[in-house]
Amino acid sequence: MAQVISAIQEKGGVGKSTLLCALAARLAKDGAKVVIVDTDPQKTCLKWAEKDKCGVDAVEQLNDELLTKTVKHLKGSYDVVMIDTAGYKSAMAVYTVMRSDIIFIPCKAAEPDAKGALRTWQHVQAISESADIYPQTYVVLSDFDKGTSISEGIRDALATQGLITLKTPLWHRTGFKEMHTHGTLPPGSATAAINEFVAELQLAGALEFYREPKKEAVNG
Ligand SMILES: Nc1ncnc2c1ncn2[C@@H]1O[C@H](COP(=O)(O)OP(=O)(O)O)[C@@H](O)[C@H]1O
Ligand SMILES: [Mg+2]
Repeated sequence: MAQVISAIQEKGGVGKSTLLCALAARLAKDGAKVVIVDTDPQKTCLKWAEKDKCGVDAVEQLNDELLTKTVKHLKGSYDVVMIDTAGYKSAMAVYTVMRSDIIFIPCKAAEPDAKGALRTWQHVQAISESADIYPQTYVVLSDFDKGTSISEGIRDALATQGLITLKTPLWHRTGFKEMHTHGTLPPGSATAAINEFVAELQLAGALEFYREPKKEAVNG
């Protein structure tokens, strides 16, 4: 059964679609069957996947009432089903939370993003508690520069408020922009950045695809 991974943030432009496309490309490169359900009318993930350079599938679903059915259907045929959402509070975001095993809340190094991350975190907690489901939820520092006072300030503010933040940011790299133009894996130094990010998730055992037992026979 597929693992469902989504990106939610009520503020737009924080790196949701970039994170999902980069992670999808990396998983596909490692042999995973990945599909992205794009629920955002901007269709960033859909347009990236249609360039068809990474073997990642994408479907559009703009009807919130059909999201659950779409995801359930896709889970049977893929290793990973991703859900990308638009940057506002919506019924679609609620249905997404209820369907997800992992939720990423991206946050750039700016105060409005951190405020949006906090509100989104609280929204996810409220939905989780009322539905009695507990998806792994992580804030992802996105488009971060190393060692600047604003980036360290945002990291500290998120920690003070009790939000669980992945240690490895998706560093600010031009390759994360170029990947949208070309439909590829993040090129150049962005490749190392997504690899570093995935390594933390692997170490935490968060990604089921990497936990599955290998099919090769074990010599005894
Ligand atoms: N790590 C990064 N490095 C450089 N640019 C980034 C990074 N993450 C996101 N961006 C850029 O930020 C902008 C918004 O990202 P996007 O993924 O479309 O956000 P959202 O889906 O939350 O609206 C895009 O131009 C994207 O290329
Ligand atoms: Mg987007």
